[in-house]
Amino acid sequence: MNILIYYFSGTGNSKRIADVAAEGFKQQGHSAQVKSIEDGQLDPQHLSAEIHGFVFPVYFWGIPRIMEKFMHTLPPASGKKSFLLLTAGNVYAKSLTLNQARKILEKKGYAMLGGDTIAMPDSFIVVYDPPPVDKATFKVKAAEGAAAAFAKKILSGEPKIQKSSFSEIIMRFMYVFYRTVIKFHIFWPGFRVDNKCNSCEICAKICPVKNIQMVGGKPTWGKHCEACMRCIQLCPQKAIQTYFGSEKKNRYKEPHLEIKDLIN
Ligand SMILES: Cc1cc2nc3c(=O)[nH]c(=O)nc-3n(C[C@H](O)[C@H](O)[C@H](O)COP(=O)(O)O)c2cc1C
Ligand code: SF4
Ligand code: SF4
Repeated sequence: MNILIYYFSGTGNSKRIADVAAEGFKQQGHSAQVKSIEDGQLDPQHLSAEIHGFVFPVYFWGIPRIMEKFMHTLPPASGKKSFLLLTAGNVYAKSLTLNQARKILEKKGYAMLGGDTIAMPDSFIVVYDPPPVDKATFKVKAAEGAAAAFAKKILSGEPKIQKSSFSEIIMRFMYVFYRTVIKFHIFWPGFRVDNKCNSCEICAKICPVKNIQMVGGKPTWGKHCEACMRCIQLCPQKAIQTYFGSEKKNRYKEPHLEIKDLIN
């Protein structure tokens, strides 16, 4: 089988899971490659691939806006097989986002093999203090094992996506609230920069949607943030803060993620 995995990843968790799953497929004799959706472009192998996988984080109990937009721009799939593999800080309400994505893909004409959600370190620094390196590495290792196991089963249609429970559907309203009432991409992120900033411009270069402009040597944030937390988590000086007190919090990036690769 020729498998193409599209992914979005703010702090590297979903990228790592996409890479491990691709490696798992290769070990079974398949051809597999990963493609970031940040440029919004289809992979040159889009049509020839026999299976399309979609890997991304759960944001506010739903699909990240950037991935949802990408899915809507996909050409008709005419029965092509697909799967979903999500990462999240916890796997509570895991069917909710899987079903949200499944519906979009099925409308495009995909045949859904199945999907799962894997727990990884929580990147939402606004609310949580990201785990220190040793704890994060432990959780990433467990997630890598889960991704490898997923690659062994998904081509035979396991795990299936379960129906969303009633309580999950209630949580769906929270997602709609964040997206349409709070409009977090406009009012978000409420980041500020402190005097540790050395004007390296890394934050502006790595923002997946070019939402950061350097003004007078300091970052300023625009109004189309995806809330991916990449800028605040990866700033080498820890100079980006939220308004809710992030000075003393850890910063997190998935250990395999390299800033230079994001810039390139
Ligand atoms: C804005 C935002 C919202 C999030 N919302 C949820 C959520 O609703 N449920 C959850 O389990 N994790 C949530 N998370 C945690 C991420 O899903 C998790 O850390 C994920 O692995 C990050 O993947 P990435 O490194 O590929 O971006 C959220 C993270 C961010 C940044
Ligand atoms: S990455 Fe950090 S140090 Fe570099 S310009 Fe941005 S805020 Fe300043
Ligand atoms: S401004 Fe920061 S949080 Fe928003 S999309 Fe860019 S890197 Fe992500």
